[in-house]
Order: sequence, then structure tokens, then C-alpha cells
Amino acid sequence: SCECKIGPSILAADLSMLGTECQRLMECGADYLHLDVMDGHFVPNITFGHPVVKCLRPKVPGVFFDMHMMVAKPEQNLIGVLTFLTALQILIPTPRFRGRLDSPKVHWSEGSLVRKVWVEGMTDAGANQFTFHVEATDDVIGCIRKIKEAGMKVGLGVKPGTPVSALVPYIELIDMALVMTVEPGFGGQKFMSDMMPKVQYLRQRYQDLDIEVDGGVGPSNIDVVAEAGANMIVSGTAVTGSDEPRAVINRLKQSVEE
Ligand code: DX5
Ligand code: ZN
Repeated sequence: SCECKIGPSILAADLSMLGTECQRLMECGADYLHLDVMDGHFVPNITFGHPVVKCLRPKVPGVFFDMHMMVAKPEQNLIGVLTFLTALQILIPTPRFRGRLDSPKVHWSEGSLVRKVWVEGMTDAGANQFTFHVEATDDVIGCIRKIKEAGMKVGLGVKPGTPVSALVPYIELIDMALVMTVEPGFGGQKFMSDMMPKVQYLRQRYQDLDIEVDGGVGPSNIDVVAEAGANMIVSGTAVTGSDEPRAVINRLKQSVEE
């Protein structure tokens, strides 16, 4: 039997009542929550960021938040931009420039010098794991280090077109590998079974690694995913699009326990 964990993706849930939806999914037997963050750059879609996660945290205390960060440059924060602005302000202290900095658009106070984006923002919001894409940055190791320093677990993912070998140099540094079984950016797509060799490759070599599969997974194909060696299984539309999410989560669990 497989010790699989089921993490519903809330992408296809009613996002106007995210807190209630998350509570409902946990009551229906979810093991953790997979929260999809899209920035409109890494993928052609936008969902939500850490301010929303921060509001969500107290609604489901103690629940493991796996942040699926479909963002370009996951390591970045805005402190560099603001330091540059500070330098400019000193170099060109023209009334016009100063005027602009004092405008309501740029809040020019000491506090504004630190703008936390992605990693720091997610830690502060109460995220537990930060899963980013190997395709999204030139500094994978730097990003891993940053996430660990922030006190979160690290997940590293590959899109369908990226070979699994892209993950290999980082396996010893990460907590979880994510194999995408759809092109990231949209829920409700068809499961790509030809990604299973990636899961098998990882499971054969790394017995203790958490391996997550994400995209198009439901009761009809969860056995394929578990058989290949995945132990963290994301399911979006199949769960939240159903009238009986509890029954679907039960079916998912039963099919991997048999
Ligand atoms: C795709 C997301 C997935 C996905 C899950 O960009 O990362 O989490 O939406 O939803 P389903 O199960 O509907 O593919
Ligand atoms: Zn996802």
C-alpha cells in the first residue's frame, strides 16, 4: 500500500469564499492544500499572492500549505528596486522627482524600503512549503537557500517539456519534486500519462523523496500515478468540480490503499 497524501488544488473552487472552501476540503478528508500562485509571466494567467494566503491562514490553522509558485524569478524581492530609487533620489533631488516620490503612488517612508515578494511574503503569510519551477530562475540553488532560510520546505517542479534530469542536481537539497502532468497555467486539462517515466525515474533512485504529481488527476487515473511512485497527489477539478467532494476524496484514497 502507498502512503499517499491527497492535496486538493483550490484553483477551480469558488474563489470568492476561499476560506470556506478550504475548510470544506479539509473536512472532506484532504491531507494538505495545494495553492496555485500564477503571476501572468511564468504562466499566462493570474490567481492570487501572499496577501490572500495571509487571510486564509487563520481559517485553516495547522493545515499544510503547499504553495505552487508558477512565477518568474521566484527568488526576487523588490528591495533592489527601492534601493535604486533611493540612489536616484540622492543623485537627482529635483523638485519634480521629489514630488513624484512624495506622491501617493510611492509611499516614501522607511517602511517602504523593504517590500517582501514571493519567498519572504509567503513565509510571513504562513506558508509551509514553497514549490517553484526549475525553468523559472537562473539561480535555483540561491532560491532553494532563500526558502530554507525563511523556514519553509522546498519543492522543485518541472513542466511537461522539461526533462527530469533538470531536477537531479538539486535532489539532495529539496524536500519534494513536482512532476507536472499538464502544462501549468490552467485547471481542468487532460492528464498526460507520458509523464509517468519521470516519476518512475525519480522513485527508483530516491526512495525517501516526496514526489508530487499535479494536473488532471482524479479517480480514473490515480492508480497510474501512485503505481509510478508519486506520494503527494494533487487533484483540482475532479474534487472541487464535484457535488460530492468527500466521496471523490474517499475514492482517491481507496484506490491507492488497495
Ligand atoms: C495547473 C495547476 C494545477 C491544476 C490542478 O497550472 O498547477 O494545480 O490546476 O487542477 P486539475 O486537477 O483540474 O488539473
Ligand atoms: Zn498546481
